[in-house]
Amino acid sequence: MTTLITGGAGYVGSHTVVALQAAGRDVVVLDDFSNARREVIDELRLLTAPSLIMVEGDAADRPTVEQLCDEHDIDSIVHFAASKSVPESLADPLRYYRNNVESTLSLAEVAVERGIGQFVFSSSAVVYGKPPELPVTEETPATPQSPYGATKLMCERMLADAAAASAMRVVILRYFNPVGAHASGRIGERPLAAAQNLIPVVMRVAQGAAERLEVFGDDYDTRDGTAIRDFVHVADLAEGHVAAIDADLGGHTSRVFNLGTGVGTTVLELIDAAVTATGRPIPYEIVARRPGDIAASWADCSRAHAELGWRAGRGLAQMLTDHWNFAQHCRDMGT
Ligand SMILES: NC(=O)c1ccc[n+]([C@@H]2O[C@H](COP(=O)([O-])OP(=O)(O)OC[C@H]3O[C@@H](n4cnc5c(N)ncnc54)[C@H](O)[C@@H]3O)[C@@H](O)[C@H]2O)c1
Repeated sequence: MTTLITGGAGYVGSHTVVALQAAGRDVVVLDDFSNARREVIDELRLLTAPSLIMVEGDAADRPTVEQLCDEHDIDSIVHFAASKSVPESLADPLRYYRNNVESTLSLAEVAVERGIGQFVFSSSAVVYGKPPELPVTEETPATPQSPYGATKLMCERMLADAAAASAMRVVILRYFNPVGAHASGRIGERPLAAAQNLIPVVMRVAQGAAERLEVFGDDYDTRDGTAIRDFVHVADLAEGHVAAIDADLGGHTSRVFNLGTGVGTTVLELIDAAVTATGRPIPYEIVARRPGDIAASWADCSRAHAELGWRAGRGLAQMLTDHWNFAQHCRDMGT
């Protein structure tokens, strides 16, 4: 019952380490710290056990992965390790193919060779590109619009093919927009460079570290003209992995699941909720749409509910309160 978690020092991975340990699994974390701070491991040891095993290394490095699997009797892999920025992937696509596809290929090879039974893969709603219909179901055609999205879809297909030809069972989780942090405020979203996605910028404005938020477009065909997204608490996502790792896929060798709340929130609604959660003003200005952004995306999560018994339980207010709590903790620590 030992799970190898690649990218376990990162945002979603660190919360999943805590959730899997709480569910009674032993975990081994592999991370190269290309987008995480080493202090996260100290926090994880406080939240789980001082003996938590952490190995620094590249998930694409087969000898490292093979040694870990043999030493720790790994029976399942949860693969988070990846590069994840859409703009970065447009600027440097080959780095994205190299890191995301190569790591997944190496891990899958080792998993099949070692007879590792369950492989859970972090995918993304980004694979849907511009969805032709809403809500987005797992059957909505996947037409990624960026190299990052293309790498995720490529990995999904590679894993599904490997599962069809082996005893490995693959669960592909397509996350919508993760927000929030652990209730303790000890772990949360903490990349090495200041994140440019919406919630971290909202938090920086609320803290007074940035002057105002730019809202990209108020002329979309939505209820207030701003873009709609499906925000989901990172702790709910983490619990989704606990459900996935024990999933009985019935007759399927691989299965895709959307993980979101099924609720779409506009950017202006999000700002209102963030003002309430933080008790701070969040000045914003409307600027032009960003090329490539889509008007609206939210998930149909009924498959995850029916087949994994999973449903996101935490609402937007909780997500923002927890995200703010963590942002304040980091500021108090001087980081
Ligand atoms: N956060 C999101 O908005 C989001 C949405 C959908 C899907 N995802 C996917 O979820 C996964 C985790 O995302 P996150 O937000 O936690 O990102 P993150 O950057 O916080 O975590 C990724 C972790 O993987 C590590 N890493 C990267 N490449 C590695 C490699 N080759 N070997 C070992 N470690 C490596 C990084 O150091 C980091 O700790 C990614 O696969 C991402 O594509 C994230």
